Amino acid sequence: MSKAKVFVTRVIPAAGLDRVREFCDADVWSEPLPPSADVLRQKLSDCEGLLSLLTERIDGAVMDAAPRLRVISNYAVGFNNIDIPAATERGIPVGNTPGVLTDATADMAFALLISASRRIVESEKYAVAGHWKTWEPLGHIGQDLAGSTVGIVGMGRIGYAMASRCRGGWGMRVLYHDQRSNEQAERELGAERVPLDRLLAESDFISVHADLNDSTRGMFNAGAFAKMKPTAVFVNTARGPLVVEADLAAALTRGTIFAAGLDVTDPEPPRADNPLVGLRNCIVAPHIASATVSSRNAMAEIAADNLIAGLKGEPLRAWVNPEVAATRRS
Ligand code: DGY
Repeated sequence: MSKAKVFVTRVIPAAGLDRVREFCDADVWSEPLPPSADVLRQKLSDCEGLLSLLTERIDGAVMDAAPRLRVISNYAVGFNNIDIPAATERGIPVGNTPGVLTDATADMAFALLISASRRIVESEKYAVAGHWKTWEPLGHIGQDLAGSTVGIVGMGRIGYAMASRCRGGWGMRVLYHDQRSNEQAERELGAERVPLDRLLAESDFISVHADLNDSTRGMFNAGAFAKMKPTAVFVNTARGPLVVEADLAAALTRGTIFAAGLDVTDPEPPRADNPLVGLRNCIVAPHIASATVSSRNAMAEIAADNLIAGLKGEPLRAWVNPEVAATRRS
């Protein structure tokens, strides 16, 4: 029996790619940069499966260029790059990779929190540039962590893991803002669910773990930064478009808030004139939160499982739109 043809938009870890190659006739895009939208449409014209990354925008037009497409497997927990209603409307199941990058992402959020608070990146640049002449009693002063308050925006798996690091390691009080209450966080971490404005006003550290959607896009704007403490440190490991970057840059430059640590920007990579890049009190990392061996391998395994399950007409291991089950393409 011939194997189903699939397009894989980048080389992913062998833990998943080897299985994809074994089960499918896989066309793997081996360039370091993503395929253009035109190339993507052309590649998909005769494919039954797509294994995509968050760098590819998969909208209705792309799906319409792929009349045989029976599954989209996204190599990420986030799926804001895919038009899910358009996939569901076309009977195409979509998979993602939740649960296996929780600790890696929370570790990164905490690394950004402590690095921005204690001005570690800025100080390292200072030392490397040869400015370190003596021990400075008034130099490089940052913010304390112990006993402070962290505000978690989005208390899902990753928000909980971040809150538990802040609570367990540094004794922080935990506030959170979410549409739903998280009983585990309230019971085990003493977390308090509060309106966003109160979280912004009372938190020393604000860490974002919210989904990107129409109601969260741009939620961190000038108004939000104005409500934060002048000593506040803002951390975003979720998605860049949650933040109005010009407003964050103004807040950092004017001292409205103390510092920021970002693993995500809008767009990615940032444009040459992005006002946040190069700011003394802003750390910008290139979206590396899930970049650990075990997380990336486990993501690859789930992405392969989702792809193969989709081709077999089985339930996906991590299924974003299970409601498509009754109408999925065969
Ligand atoms: C995701 O999975 O959504 C992360 O942003 C990248 O691993």
